Amino acid sequence: MSETSPKLRAELEGIPTYKPGRPAAAGGAVAYKLSSNENPYPPLPGVMEAATAAASSFNRYPDLACTDLMNELSDRFGVPLEHLATGTGSVGVTQQLVQATSGPGDEVIYAWRSFEAYPIIAQISGAKSVQVPLTAGAVHDLDAMADAITDRTRLIIVCNPNNPTGTAVRRAELERFLDRVPSDVVVALDEAYYEFIRDPEVPNGIELYRDRPNVCVLRTFSKAYGLAGLRVGFAVAHEPVAAALRKTAVPFGVSRIAQDAAIASLRAEDELFGRVGTLVCERNRVVEGLRAQGWTLPDTQANFVWLPLGERAAAFAQACETAGVMVRPFPGEGVRVTIGETEANDVVLKVADAFLKES
Ligand SMILES: Cc1ncc(COP(=O)(O)O)c(C=O)c1O
Repeated sequence: MSETSPKLRAELEGIPTYKPGRPAAAGGAVAYKLSSNENPYPPLPGVMEAATAAASSFNRYPDLACTDLMNELSDRFGVPLEHLATGTGSVGVTQQLVQATSGPGDEVIYAWRSFEAYPIIAQISGAKSVQVPLTAGAVHDLDAMADAITDRTRLIIVCNPNNPTGTAVRRAELERFLDRVPSDVVVALDEAYYEFIRDPEVPNGIELYRDRPNVCVLRTFSKAYGLAGLRVGFAVAHEPVAAALRKTAVPFGVSRIAQDAAIASLRAEDELFGRVGTLVCERNRVVEGLRAQGWTLPDTQANFVWLPLGERAAAFAQACETAGVMVRPFPGEGVRVTIGETEANDVVLKVADAFLKES
């Protein structure tokens, strides 16, 4: 038997592994997970019932085309069915989009630091990541991103609001940027946290896409709608982009449980958005509390805050963990803290106050 190892694609070498937010410690002190930008609320009763009912038929494959969900999305967002595609979370849809647009020799532009799945997905497809640093204020530098376009650019991702900094780009600057992008380069507006935006100047990508055939809006049921564990997201884009996303989807990737829960969630938006409103109030309370303590942090439009702690990021995360709260450190850069239950946010404020006084 020869000892040569199986041939795998060279592109896979050195791919950073996706680091999920660490779970809350089991047992012991009260522990909260503020490390994955999840919704802290349990499923709404109606959504739970829809998911449970769908579970009774999981011996069957789900509807490949997600017909009922697509119809619901089409009505809810006022977009034609042909302009929709679904996937296993918006990470799944992002992967479909990169596969549909970019291969070896192509370039994918996105801001950095931004969502950590982007470099992984780009590298798997063999495309080159072109990372454009955020501004000093931790905001997308759209001028620099436009300057980075070459004739090899196939896709530009704008994460709005940006994970992990929470900062958002506004309508005028985004439109100016879109005007500079060649019409054959796809621009993905990753709006995973759209529902948490309160700045009226931050645009709804679904309005921007309508007269821009190269714009693709990515949305998810994982955050505001609270279905992170069910894996369902969607894209809104003109054809042929949406059609390409349907082609590159994993067949039957979105389970029937996820499809039915997503439909029930859309029908329960009043209650869900009430919860989002509560989280936004908590966010404001946390931001104001931190600033009153003397912290400097960027404005956030998402369900998390960013503490640009630099070298002290790991120490702060450790202090939070000791106090029973898991947060998400980016060593050497900062810490992202999800807005969660009031009690969890209180612990963060307490730790932050002590941390600042000690340092
Ligand atoms: C910016 C951004 N996009 C997309 C996602 C993916 O969410 P999901 O795949 O659960 O829909 C996340 C999740 O953390 C995110 O932060």
